[in-house]
Amino acid sequence: MNRVDSAASGLNSPASGISLDVNLGDRSYPIHIGAGQMSAANIAQYIQGQKALIVTNTSIAPLYLQILQDQLSGVQVDTVILQDGERYKNLETLNEIFTGLIESQHDRKTTLIALGGGVVGDMTGFAAACYQRGVPFIQVPTTLLAQVDSSVGGKTAVNHSLGKNMIGAFYQPRAVIIDTDTLSTLPDREFRSGLAEVIKYGLIADPVFFTWLEDNTQGLLNRDNEALAYAIHRSCMNKAMVVSADETEQGIRAILNLGHTFGHAIETFQQYRDWLHGEAVAAGMVMAAHLSLLAGKISAEDLQRARNLIAACGLPAQPPENMKADDFLHLMVRDKKVLDGQLRLVLLDSIGSATVSADFESKWLQQVLTETCLV
Ligand code: NAD
Ligand code: GLY
Repeated sequence: MNRVDSAASGLNSPASGISLDVNLGDRSYPIHIGAGQMSAANIAQYIQGQKALIVTNTSIAPLYLQILQDQLSGVQVDTVILQDGERYKNLETLNEIFTGLIESQHDRKTTLIALGGGVVGDMTGFAAACYQRGVPFIQVPTTLLAQVDSSVGGKTAVNHSLGKNMIGAFYQPRAVIIDTDTLSTLPDREFRSGLAEVIKYGLIADPVFFTWLEDNTQGLLNRDNEALAYAIHRSCMNKAMVVSADETEQGIRAILNLGHTFGHAIETFQQYRDWLHGEAVAAGMVMAAHLSLLAGKISAEDLQRARNLIAACGLPAQPPENMKADDFLHLMVRDKKVLDGQLRLVLLDSIGSATVSADFESKWLQQVLTETCLV
């Protein structure tokens, strides 16, 4: 895996804004990052027709909908405001977007705009992929998690009660507009949830960044502007690099799922309530690192570093108290990385390097589960 050491110097000013590209041939697109980008990035340039439909939710609309609408004068802008929460990320809610589009007579030239976190982004992207067999869409992510991960790379989906993100499509946005000002209203718990995905990039691909995160944890938790802008930029660079190499997850992209097989089992077990996505991923990454230790891939010190950083960011390093080893096993076999009935997991080779592997003994997985599950 290539590293992005050249980005280690960081950003001079978060207010200046910075752009990078996801390189996917004729589906390439820019990511604009910085304070005030919702106004500064000229979103209207990415709208081709005369109509756009903003999808957001009941919590985000009062905060940011007007700011976004103000950027789109000259275009007919309709809105669909969804209920807030992971438990609404399903086919029923998706249908509300289609109803809004059809009722306001949006044709194939319309553009969808996702204003919100990963839930709104994933659903809007999937709606765009399906509506009239595909219309353009723009991501305007407003959570840290969405800014560093879900808005980039074109994975779109809704959940099924039997499994997380089971119904979806790869469908790339036309642009990603990351306005770091929106993070000022994000609740602390949601902010920390986003840090889990930031830590993920350090663990899977970027050891220099991992060390930077260890050294700058407090600045990030204080939402220091410069530290935040750097962490978002570096995360997006890592994500863009992996997605550009493997858009549809035929190989290397699967490393972006470190801890997710465990994490999705937690989320499904909780029926998408109680634990946030990043919290489930955080516990899952520690479990994956533990398995990597048992597989002889990483040292006990590496496992401890992963656990320490996750805990220092206020994230759970253990699964929920009410989950048993069998609950995990039962849910993990439904993971999308299961191929020909064989469970594959992302394992660490070191801090900063990961591979997808079926090359682990089931007794090691059993050991991780029995040692970490409290019941
Ligand atoms: P979320 O979308 O539920 O947002 C979290 C909460 O923060 C919500 O209550 C939301 O209304 C609120 N919120 C959003 N922005 C805010 C702001 N600026 N100020 C105040 N409140 C705000 O959760 P999330 O963590 O952003 O995303 C999680 C989802 O992303 C999961 O469904 C997960 O599966 C998905 N995901 C997708 C990918 C991908 O590649 N597509 C990657 C990672 C995660
Ligand atoms: N978040 C995993 C991916 O984008 O592939």
